[in-house]
Amino acid sequence: MSQEHAFKAGFETRAIHAGYEPDEMTGAVIPPIYATSTYKQDGVGGLRGGYEYSRSANPTRTALEGALAAVEEGERGFAFASGLAAEDALIRALTRPGDHAVIPDDAYGGTFRLFDKVARPWGLEHSPAPVGDVDAVRAAIVPGRTKLVWIETPTNPMLTIGDIEVLAAVAHEAGALLVVDNTFASPYLQQPLTLGADLVVHSTTKYVGGHSDVVGGAVVVRDHEVAERIGFHQNSMGAVAGPFDAFLTHRGLKTLGVRMDRHCDNAEKVVDFLVGHPQVSEVIYPGLEEHAGHALAARQMRRFGGIVSFRVTGGEQQALQVCARAEVFTLGESLGGVESLIEHPGRMTHASVAGTDLEVPADLVRLSVGIETADDLLADLDRALGGSGRE
Ligand SMILES: Cc1ncc(COP(=O)(O)O)c(C=O)c1O
Repeated sequence: MSQEHAFKAGFETRAIHAGYEPDEMTGAVIPPIYATSTYKQDGVGGLRGGYEYSRSANPTRTALEGALAAVEEGERGFAFASGLAAEDALIRALTRPGDHAVIPDDAYGGTFRLFDKVARPWGLEHSPAPVGDVDAVRAAIVPGRTKLVWIETPTNPMLTIGDIEVLAAVAHEAGALLVVDNTFASPYLQQPLTLGADLVVHSTTKYVGGHSDVVGGAVVVRDHEVAERIGFHQNSMGAVAGPFDAFLTHRGLKTLGVRMDRHCDNAEKVVDFLVGHPQVSEVIYPGLEEHAGHALAARQMRRFGGIVSFRVTGGEQQALQVCARAEVFTLGESLGGVESLIEHPGRMTHASVAGTDLEVPADLVRLSVGIETADDLLADLDRALGGSGRE
């Protein structure tokens, strides 16, 4: 399929066809893994297709980067060694010591650590603000110094929803760029660049890769000049996705749409089961009408995602026990793979924010609902909670 057609096609067609056309010589339908560090030149400077050295560009990565740009409807995509490598490149490409950023007050722990323990000593200050409160985000901006307004929506693990369109306007009024970490929603459920955001970041380790077999990150950019700066830093700092990782991530991306629909179906069933369970005091899911961001999520997302957080009546001990007892839900960090995962954010993914404004409740459990048989997931949760939740 020609790239001109692929980029204008529907989501699943873009995910499958954008970024690569069957190889001229062999007709290979899938981008080969170009395990090469360098490329033969046809005379000095005579590059074939612009390939010179694999930190700068590698055809397996190029294919993935094209597909990422297409599914996010951006100008260019960049693939990195991890989500945090992508975030680091973005921060250093677009800010200077003395600048300031606004970050979510319940950011992913590693993102907070990057801002607090790496970027701040380097000279970039930050202020946390709740992404669901536009006035609070506006108030956190330091006029003249804020260069990035950084949001996650839904946030991790409290699943707060931020209004991308409104926050883009707030950032732009202040001369800042809006960055959306789109890891939780995935490009299938939400396309921030079409709502006014300037950059999207992903931990492609999660839904984009989708099979818990590769760590990776991405930045997708709307504007040409910003893309040039990210591209320059990607090459200069060098935290690129290798060809094997790019291949796996690209393979995952092709099935993102069907996987996300099943993640959402199963998450909705899990939510129905947990609501009203005697051992559960609160279920947090943007698909619930009582969720503060429900109407907004219904507007800016296709569906409500595969992550469900809940609080238990028995405090931290019970939350830890539920995590330990679950069997189909594997106890582990990360999310977005085909298998269901369970974790205790306070002791695991969010341990680095303990004692700060970003601390999460001790009785909170986070689920990444996978695509197994839904009944098996419900039975597992019931057993882990000590029973009595099923008729
Ligand atoms: C929302 C979010 N952003 C970024 C990251 C960091 O990505 P990575 O682990 O691929 O470096 C994670 C990892 O869990 C995440 O959940």
